[in-house]
Amino acid sequence: MNEVLKNIYGRRSVRAYSDEPVSEEVINEIIKAGFHAPNGMNVQALRFVVVQKRELLTLYSEIGKRMSLTNFKNKLEAAVPQERMGLERLIENLSNPKFDIFYGAPVLILVFAAPEALTPNEDGALAAENMMLAAHSMGIGSCWIGFAGALGYNPDVMKELNIPSDHKLIAPLIFGHPKKGDMAPSQRMEVPIVKWIR
Ligand SMILES: Cc1cc2nc3c(=O)[nH]c(=O)nc-3n(C[C@H](O)[C@H](O)[C@H](O)COP(=O)(O)O)c2cc1C
Repeated sequence: MNEVLKNIYGRRSVRAYSDEPVSEEVINEIIKAGFHAPNGMNVQALRFVVVQKRELLTLYSEIGKRMSLTNFKNKLEAAVPQERMGLERLIENLSNPKFDIFYGAPVLILVFAAPEALTPNEDGALAAENMMLAAHSMGIGSCWIGFAGALGYNPDVMKELNIPSDHKLIAPLIFGHPKKGDMAPSQRMEVPIVKWIR
């Protein structure tokens, strides 16, 4: 198997990190890999914010938890039975005062799309995957933190980050050196190719 495929199949979301810092050089490389992803009409409208300050990571975890909790509780009221169990589990996790949505990671990179982006969601998601794969290739763990998506709707956070309110937060990603332990990639079911039309 070639190195690119090995890297793709070997990546996993990492939810336990050591205190070892990630060098600026490595962080820059990760961001560069993100910026090199395909993007609609090559408008290059993604913007990156790196947060390493521990107090801010703690604060943003609390804000992300609080806003996500409100969101999921509202959803639960209108949820169909199939959705209820998942939502109840999320609410239980988010209600745990000890739960850090960033799992103690030393680096949070927020990927924003500027208003000129033609395909903001697609651009951000493609950049995110490039970034997580680049990180994995350098021995750095990562995870997309959907719970932190709410930060993009918080005017105080946006002001603090110095990001204009017309920028859309697409991908909140954590990075760090994985804590030792089971780092086997998570399982996938058999690939659901529905049909070949030849
Ligand atoms: C849009 C998106 C949001 C996610 N949000 C979270 C999150 O808030 N917390 C978390 O622990 N994992 C989150 N994940 C990671 C997924 O749970 C993970 O990718 C999935 O379980 C597959 O595992 P793998 O990445 O190890 O292959 C998110 C992934 C995506 C794509």
